[in-house]
Amino acid sequence: MFHKKTIRDINVKNKTILVRTDYNVPLQDGEVVSDLRIRASLPTINYLLEHGAKKVILMSHLGRPEGVRNRDLSLAPVAKALATLLPNTPVHFIDDVSGPDVEAAVKKLPMGGILLLENLRFFPGEEKDSSDFAAEITESTHADIFVQDGFAVIHRAHASTSAIAKDLPAVAGLLVEKEVSTLTQVSEQPKAPVLVIIGGAKVVDKQPLIDHFLSKAEHIAVGGKIAADGYTSTDPKIYVATDFAENEAGEKLDIGPSSTAHIISLVNSASTIIWNGVLGLVEQPEFAKSSTAVARAIGTKSHVTSVICGGDTAGFAENLSEKEPDLHFSLISTGGGASLELLSGLPLPGLDCLEDA
Ligand code: 3PG
Repeated sequence: MFHKKTIRDINVKNKTILVRTDYNVPLQDGEVVSDLRIRASLPTINYLLEHGAKKVILMSHLGRPEGVRNRDLSLAPVAKALATLLPNTPVHFIDDVSGPDVEAAVKKLPMGGILLLENLRFFPGEEKDSSDFAAEITESTHADIFVQDGFAVIHRAHASTSAIAKDLPAVAGLLVEKEVSTLTQVSEQPKAPVLVIIGGAKVVDKQPLIDHFLSKAEHIAVGGKIAADGYTSTDPKIYVATDFAENEAGEKLDIGPSSTAHIISLVNSASTIIWNGVLGLVEQPEFAKSSTAVARAIGTKSHVTSVICGGDTAGFAENLSEKEPDLHFSLISTGGGASLELLSGLPLPGLDCLEDA
């Protein structure tokens, strides 16, 4: 289910490789709070280094600085976190993406070293998908090959995900390959019975997913704020939570025990489970009960294909798996909007621009 060339199809030895990662990670007081996306980039980085790449130049965005520099959204803390994960590799950071300073930093980089560029979205050319901006990056870094490994950003047509592929041979990294293969498989040829669990807050974001799976899934279960806000459907495949846990002010902040039990019974009879959107206000343990119970039910079924996607849901499942390592999910996707768009059958410019296998 993957039709693009990957880093395994090319010779990377002695080449300078420009890798688009998605290091759009949460920061607090200048420190990385969750390194899920940084860890997810390691297989590609390690593959390139193990196969003799001369230099690895990483680039990413962080947040939405809208074309202006913003110290709070610098990627410097990400370089620090990456260096901790790669203790035997020189990891450098440069506070620019092109120009003489970048050129000098690339030149100084030792063989087998890594250089992380500054936040691409400090520059207006990035979101405009500017070919000039992309060319400035490729020229300053003297890159030989472009690798797309920022799965979470492949739904964007930006200079570093789209225009850049016109300047260099462009292939996929291992994270993009893994995420796209698994999500395409469950989106196009899921093993029946299929259950889609939808939660979260914004129904407008989830409706394309519901529409896409109406003809493919046996059951769609809706919880979270969407259900609490009164989502209804007359389609017999769609189950909407019926009871809720409330706070003192009467706000419905989690689905209740009877709806949770019903969703778990659907989990128990499914062969493919796709979960997008937490079922309650999981930041507050009191209202994380249904999401925890459903995650445990999914994570203990080793014979099913289970895909957890959406930023909050993936973070929640990741945290729970750290505490309960016996839980297993086929894929905890690093993509928020990207996984939703892929599963909804929408185009992905950051994937389409890569060379066909
Ligand atoms: C994400 O976090 O979903 C990706 O990094 C994309 O970010 P964006 O929605 O700001 O383009």
